[in-house]
Amino acid sequence: MSTSDLEHLPISQQYEQSENNGSNHSANPTLGDVIAARLSRRDLMKGLLGVSAITATVSPLALMAASEARAQGGNTTPSFNFKEVVAGSDENHYVAEGYDADVLIRWGDKVAADAPAFDPTKQTADAQAGQFGYNNDYLGYIPLNGRSDHGLLVVNHEYTNEELMFPGLGRQDRDAKFAGMTKDLADIEIMAHGGSVLEVKREAGKWKVVDGSKYARRITASTEMRVSGPAAGHDKMKTKADPTGTKVLGMLNNCAGATTPWGTWLTCEENFNGYFWSKKAGEEGPDAKALKRYGAPGEWFNWGTYYDRFDYAKEPNEVNRFGWVVEIDPMDPNSVPVKRTSMGRFKHEGAANVINSDGRFVVYQGDDERFDYVYKFVTEGKVDTANPAANKDILDKGTLYAARYNADGTGEWLPLVHGQGKLTAENGFANQGDVVIFARLAADLHGATKMDRPEDVEANKKTGKVYVALTNNSRRKVGEEDAANPRADNRFGHIIEMIPEGGDHASTRFNWEMLVKCGDPSVASVGATFNPATSKDGWFGMPDQIAIDAEGRLWIGTDGMNLKVTGRTDGLYAVETEGPARATSKLFFRCPVGAELCGPETTPDLETFFVAVQHPGDEAGATFEKPATRWPDFKDDMPPRPSIVAITRKGGGKIAV
Ligand code: FEO
Ligand code: CA
Ligand code: CA
Ligand code: CA
Repeated sequence: MSTSDLEHLPISQQYEQSENNGSNHSANPTLGDVIAARLSRRDLMKGLLGVSAITATVSPLALMAASEARAQGGNTTPSFNFKEVVAGSDENHYVAEGYDADVLIRWGDKVAADAPAFDPTKQTADAQAGQFGYNNDYLGYIPLNGRSDHGLLVVNHEYTNEELMFPGLGRQDRDAKFAGMTKDLADIEIMAHGGSVLEVKREAGKWKVVDGSKYARRITASTEMRVSGPAAGHDKMKTKADPTGTKVLGMLNNCAGATTPWGTWLTCEENFNGYFWSKKAGEEGPDAKALKRYGAPGEWFNWGTYYDRFDYAKEPNEVNRFGWVVEIDPMDPNSVPVKRTSMGRFKHEGAANVINSDGRFVVYQGDDERFDYVYKFVTEGKVDTANPAANKDILDKGTLYAARYNADGTGEWLPLVHGQGKLTAENGFANQGDVVIFARLAADLHGATKMDRPEDVEANKKTGKVYVALTNNSRRKVGEEDAANPRADNRFGHIIEMIPEGGDHASTRFNWEMLVKCGDPSVASVGATFNPATSKDGWFGMPDQIAIDAEGRLWIGTDGMNLKVTGRTDGLYAVETEGPARATSKLFFRCPVGAELCGPETTPDLETFFVAVQHPGDEAGATFEKPATRWPDFKDDMPPRPSIVAITRKGGGKIAV
């Protein structure tokens, strides 16, 4: 397969397909995609074969429910009341009938009171530092005074697409070898990363960002942060600029996250490896083994050619200072973000959490890489719900675990604690700092289960069940399947349901079940297991974001549906988890072409669903001049802009009730 074929993959897909061995863009999905496209076309013509294969894998109860639902006029999802969107692809977004989906804020819009208006032909780092960043991902709504119509929206800005942001540039990281990049452009990218704090208000039914809010804040890849927990002050965290190993500039590639019951925002560094330079220096340096396990330095960005700290040869420990969960107090715009190292260093997807029955705080986390692990962290201390300030440093002490899924439907949480098991000095772990900095290597030694790219993990606070989105893994070979990752060449992913032993989220034991194997159920070779009541529009692949709403209902956002194969864009799906309708899915919101559905977050009153439309227009070969869509502005001189959309019911009322 030639490099030019790879180049035609949209940047988001190449990005998601990156390897954990440091050669991130050497993924070779193109050949597979071509085969898959052929297979699916061919298999579609054999639809009958597909149906018989499905009936063999679905329970008789589910089949009965499906035929009953059809007989009753088609309400296949008793927990969700809305008319499904038709799946497909074009330049626009679509929401279920009877709902409004209004753009709230776009890349470049003003966040700081003094930020200039967005002009894509006159971008500067200074302007971007006060404007809404690129590629909005996680969204968290924090009510002000308990209100559902007035609160803070905290937003991650995961990464930048230089070919869509800047005129006349094109892709820089492959054949171009960054020839078109300049320090000025890199500085804009640095400011377009990080996060935003927005004050939002609903007036006369419509949401708006409060102009000049005292909470308004941009956090960037150069904002000063503090390091706390077992890695703080560790030798591997010390640099020339920070000999104490406790102060870091910025956060990188913040994907998903969570809010906490004490009002803070947990924002998770995912593919931090891509920001470091150079592959060659990493391979030749003393840290080669650990770097390789983390895929660093990845050379996805050339910041290391302008800034020593991103150049491994000049500053070998800087890379250890990224890949953490960062806690931010959004109520205080001057608060210093804290990297909570107790929760380990890996490609954190999210940090969904729950207060356990005994008061301890439990954070569930996925490490989004092929064959990587599901983790959880259990605090030592108990959450003080009456006094939010008392929980300020609760995340610094506790136990990190990695998950093992047994074939009999049981599972275990394996503690990553220095001195226990193989985590000893002889094996390279001299203290807990080593364990958290090299958490992947520690989990390797404990025999955690290699998963098909763990994305979001969320606990349903009503039922106590925990959901894990495994997005896909086309590199799992025949013979490498296991009970929890049962498909070789897993192109469409699956969702696992975990049930903590005795409802105790701190327990080291759990049971688990497959909720659904994703993909087109009409194509037998895919092996999808949606409830047969699911319509042709309702099935999905590549589960990524999970939201569980105030009614305890499951929503899934998808990433990388692969237009070529499926003919449909990413979207937000309502998924039944209980009773005969379990594993029935229905499409609620559909993204414009090229975009991923991120950040689904409801207000507590369930009247609003905020979603983040990430990398719109990012299809194969797309550039600033030739994007796949100019959503949401649709102006010839305006590139596509990642934006937040607020979904509300026309005339008011709860979503899908
Ligand atoms: Fe940033 Fe794993 O999605
Ligand atoms: Ca993403
Ligand atoms: Ca994600
Ligand atoms: Ca993803």
